[in-house]
Amino acid sequence: MTATLEEQFESTIAGHDRIEPRDWMPEGYRKTLIRQVAQHAHSEIIGMQPEGNWITRAPSLRRKAILLAKVQDEAGHGLYLYSACETLGASRRELYDKLINGQQKYSSIFNYPTLSYADVGTIGWLVDGAAICNQVPLCRTSYGPYGRAMIRICKEESFHQRQGYELLMTMMRGTEEQQAMVQESVDRFWWPALMMFGPPDDQSPNTAQSMAWGIKRDTNDELRQKFVDMSVPQAAALGVTLPDPELRWNEERGHHDFGQPDWEEFMAVVKGNGPCNAQRIAHRRQADEDGAWVREASMQFAARNERRVETR
Ligand SMILES: [Fe+2]
Ligand SMILES: [Fe+2]
Repeated sequence: MTATLEEQFESTIAGHDRIEPRDWMPEGYRKTLIRQVAQHAHSEIIGMQPEGNWITRAPSLRRKAILLAKVQDEAGHGLYLYSACETLGASRRELYDKLINGQQKYSSIFNYPTLSYADVGTIGWLVDGAAICNQVPLCRTSYGPYGRAMIRICKEESFHQRQGYELLMTMMRGTEEQQAMVQESVDRFWWPALMMFGPPDDQSPNTAQSMAWGIKRDTNDELRQKFVDMSVPQAAALGVTLPDPELRWNEERGHHDFGQPDWEEFMAVVKGNGPCNAQRIAHRRQADEDGAWVREASMQFAARNERRVETR
């Protein structure tokens, strides 16, 4: 007796094996993946903006070289992920349009402004750090092209986190003003970084299905806990205070207890009303318009070359 396509899919998932583009998959699985991978791709390229803001004002050639490399990596992450999305039958044009029209989201964190150079360090430490917590389990996600893209991305993310931490460490060894800049930056980014894991589990309607399909491997709250536990000793080594009066070690649980982010603020940012939402999308739309002639010219060039081959 031959297994039905659905049984084959279920047994691949149950065996923690990968689903590949040529394999049959339920429509819901495909749609959930397109949504998640596209959101991830959009986050990578929108995330270039807050840090890109500081490239021309980097305090030294060395800092500039590091920041340029980091921001370019994020463009590369976007490209791997848009390509992974294309293997699911979505076109890149359609994904860009959905980003610009607000039909698809990107991580809420990139709607916060970068107000000082210390933010470059804090983003590397906390934002790339949270991204690593989210993304390491995705290396084992059930969809092959997504999982393989994540393996490459995670290697680069750990460099991003280290460059951020090293920048903050350098500033903390500096003047009192520099130390105050770091603390002020950590105060602004701590809560938005905790929001990066998404709403609490009891308010996250898609989590159960995504876990059953092996797309997601851990819940939002599990990942948030892991991130807090990881960050506390790092903050202590740095000499900064995390802005949460409820943060303390819980011997019984073997984890830190911590306060809740302002979930109303989170919902407002997700709905488009964060401090920089309009600016981020306007910048992307402008870049899309400015690049239109390049896309047009390369299509014409490709078409002409094809005609030449045909008439040979
Ligand atoms: Fe990235
Ligand atoms: Fe990164």
